[in-house]
Amino acid sequence: MNAAGLHVAIVMDGNGRWATARGLPRRRGHEAGARTVRTTVEAAAALGVEMLTLYAFSSDNWKRPPREVGALLALFRRYLDAERARLRDQGIRLSIVGRRDRIPLSLLATIERAERETAAGTTMHLRVAIDYSARDALIDAARLASGARVTRERFAELLGEVQHGGAARDVDLLIRTGGEHRLSDFLLWECAYAELWFTPRAWPDFNAELLRSALDEFASRDRRFGALPDAAAS
Ligand code: IPE
Ligand code: IPE
Ligand code: MG
Repeated sequence: MNAAGLHVAIVMDGNGRWATARGLPRRRGHEAGARTVRTTVEAAAALGVEMLTLYAFSSDNWKRPPREVGALLALFRRYLDAERARLRDQGIRLSIVGRRDRIPLSLLATIERAERETAAGTTMHLRVAIDYSARDALIDAARLASGARVTRERFAELLGEVQHGGAARDVDLLIRTGGEHRLSDFLLWECAYAELWFTPRAWPDFNAELLRSALDEFASRDRRFGALPDAAAS
């Protein structure tokens, strides 16, 4: 499967249930999930994916117990510190998408450093969504757009400005692990014509083979964007 030029987005869900099923604290599920991030990023880059957007922490996830939130924020910091050199060496550009004003300063400094050090990467653009809400991003972009006549292209640029990580770009394939069939406030604008692919597998059990299965199925789908298939249009 050649995924050249595609934007793949993943809702990395099921870490907590994966850990609980093994008698482990939820935090251990998130740690296992971080290892899956590493292998998935490498597999996606090898398959030619151009942009990979991973949902790591939603704005609604602040509702979780402070201990779990703290463990997640500490894990993001460890992940970024451990991965930035490897990402740079692989030519992978990293951006964090979402709000930045509620992120602890120590994590923010780590994010900015990782973004700076990987900025020249051209192999793949890896975007990790932290404190991300698509609805909030839409409201913020609409505020910037108010009064002007706004095209879809201009609105996508405004969305990029408010959520960081570059102009909003349509998602080609949206993957969600963990068995739920919903978007949970992820990339609502960008998923207008995304192909959706769900698996009951928890995120820690996701792997390169499943990514290839998702991309293979994507390749067999007929994307019409509201028009007719080529054969029927003539
Ligand atoms: C996804 O796994 C990671 C985050 C939302 C931070 P969950 O923590 O939601 O795991 P489940 O859905 O409870 O199993
Ligand atoms: C979505 O998962 C957010 C992330 C994977 C980061 P949730 O576990 O928070 O979503 P819901 O609560 O099941 O919709
Ligand atoms: Mg969940």
